Amino acid sequence: MSDLIPVEQYLHSIHNASSTIQSKLDPHPILSRPRILIICGSGLGGIADILSKDNDSDSPIVEIKYSDIPGFKTSTVPGHAGKLVFGLIGDNKVPVMCMVGRLHFYEGYTFQETTFPIRVAKDLGIGVVVVTNAAGGVNDSYKPGELMVIEDHVNFPGLAGWHPLRGPNLEEYGPRFLPLSDAYDHSLRKLFVEKAKELNVIRKIHEGTYFFAAGPTFESRAEVRAIRTLGGDAVGMSTVPEVIVARHCGMRVFALSLITNAGVGAKPPSALHPNPVALDDGMASHAEVLEAADEASKDVEKIIEATINQL
Ligand code: HPA
Repeated sequence: MSDLIPVEQYLHSIHNASSTIQSKLDPHPILSRPRILIICGSGLGGIADILSKDNDSDSPIVEIKYSDIPGFKTSTVPGHAGKLVFGLIGDNKVPVMCMVGRLHFYEGYTFQETTFPIRVAKDLGIGVVVVTNAAGGVNDSYKPGELMVIEDHVNFPGLAGWHPLRGPNLEEYGPRFLPLSDAYDHSLRKLFVEKAKELNVIRKIHEGTYFFAAGPTFESRAEVRAIRTLGGDAVGMSTVPEVIVARHCGMRVFALSLITNAGVGAKPPSALHPNPVALDDGMASHAEVLEAADEASKDVEKIIEATINQL
């Protein structure tokens, strides 16, 4: 039996979700045509705080819980709230849709389910997606608290057949065979870096390749070394399926990793030789990820705000 939802049913759910959302936005004309989707990564839900806060008729906020949208799955991960927040960003009052809490494959959802919100966003008329995530540093020069503008990715599950575009092609969204050589929009990347400079952000900004591992385990030491060999600079459990579906829909993509921990690629302590390294040296944890994200989130928020204000 196929694990895929039949196309007609899937399309119907997408359109049903988008019309439910649209009906909640229509009473607020200034929000009713969102232009940008922002996906908040682990511990980065505070990005929704950059929406104009007055919550009056000039800058309204509309919040919709995932559980109130037909067809939307709910986020089960601590640090992922599970709601859409619609509001305005910057002096230019750019109308945006924020996903506070994303859906992951490791939670048991299919890629059709985890990328469902992207196609809903497309239905709402959105043309740009800003994706953020927490990621482990694999490149030796990356330190926790630094940022990586994603310039490319390795879709490791995808190369082995677990691909978000597997199954009948959704012709009304995009082509069967999609090139990904320009997945991460060059002008958006340049704009982000320019805004970081203008804002005098001293946090180091790298540009590199995001390696998608399905999770939920953090990588073993040998896996960290393997990912390094395969060209990954940072590793994480999200983003790539969303980016692929967004590109399939013809949306422009900007994606940012916050490096929350260093992947440990050193060999474990030996049983054969005396070794001073404790076994838990550098062990990754979700608490560490959330702590690092919290620390860096203010910088991420202000650069994203300035970038989106310019779009
Ligand atoms: N590996 C995978 N995903 C992650 C990591 C990591 O080290 N840190 C934050 N998300």
